Amino acid sequence: MLKKGLSVAFVLMALLLLVVACNNQEPKDGNTDSAPTSEKDGQDMKEKPEEEITLPKTTLHKTDQGESVQSLQEILNKVGYSLTVNGEFNAMTTWAVTDFQMQQEGMAVSGIYNEATKEALSNALENESSIEPAAGLEKPDNDKSTISNPHEILTLVNKEHALPANFVPRNLVKPDVRFPFTESLPKMQMREVAAGALEEMFQAGDNAGIDLFAQSGYRSYDRQDAIFASNVAQHGEEAANTFSARPGESEHQSGLTMDVTSPDIGYKLTVEFGETDEGQWVQQHAAEYGFIIRYPKGKEEITKYQYEPWHLRYVGQDAAEEIMQKGLTLEEYLGVK
Ligand code: DAL
Ligand code: ZN
Repeated sequence: MLKKGLSVAFVLMALLLLVVACNNQEPKDGNTDSAPTSEKDGQDMKEKPEEEITLPKTTLHKTDQGESVQSLQEILNKVGYSLTVNGEFNAMTTWAVTDFQMQQEGMAVSGIYNEATKEALSNALENESSIEPAAGLEKPDNDKSTISNPHEILTLVNKEHALPANFVPRNLVKPDVRFPFTESLPKMQMREVAAGALEEMFQAGDNAGIDLFAQSGYRSYDRQDAIFASNVAQHGEEAANTFSARPGESEHQSGLTMDVTSPDIGYKLTVEFGETDEGQWVQQHAAEYGFIIRYPKGKEEITKYQYEPWHLRYVGQDAAEEIMQKGLTLEEYLGVK
């Protein structure tokens, strides 16, 4: 009797083991929603409290590295991206931040992780709302010679990196600064973020007693095409391209640039501007407002353009201060030749 009971128990146990084994089998179809082979690890992890990843508190941008960038990448992955978590604020991280910002209503698009981005990411995590990657901005394609993310503040525009012909910046506005003409012209415009910074810079210039004027900001691809063609007609193509960009290769199309000048040189855009009080003041203070002298003296081999003390490019205060203090070009700062 006892022997019979034992064998029944043995058979029941064997059946139970078989059922458990069958349930643990991996699904044959890899495309199902079931987790892949690491499910077991996932279950183990659930038992331990999940390590909290906190949103970085500091502003982060392209070229930054370290643990906070790693946390940012992990959080971006939580809301739907598939970034390689390597602690490098690279082109893909910049794309994800830009794409995320473009999907937030009313948010300034910069590719820079800032307070507003932090807040929006925090909301997205809280509401478990997932973002549709690339719904705002197409994923970068390294094979393309055109710039894949022209919305980010640190975008590099030069003879090797051209803006798409159809790129028109969002949020173009006219900064409230002095111009040496009275008509209302498209070239008065800049991207909102740069326009605000320019207004602050002009205000500080006024307080310092200098007389700055803005001459030329945003230019469309077609406008640059016409300007370049006219310069080629006058000077020949090679000479023209030392001071005038081909269409697509001008930072003016990015909406992040303003040429500035002063009455002392008849509001012209010439190298003499560098010697004026206004030119000197700009050299010393532009970075405090996020601007750099994009084509510095002695760096013509790198920028491939002549010295232009009047051409100010907005890159944001952090990058601008490092670039101007170290005497770098944007190419050198970004580690791109
Ligand atoms: N003068 C600069 C290079 C431009 O044409 O954009
Ligand atoms: Zn310019």
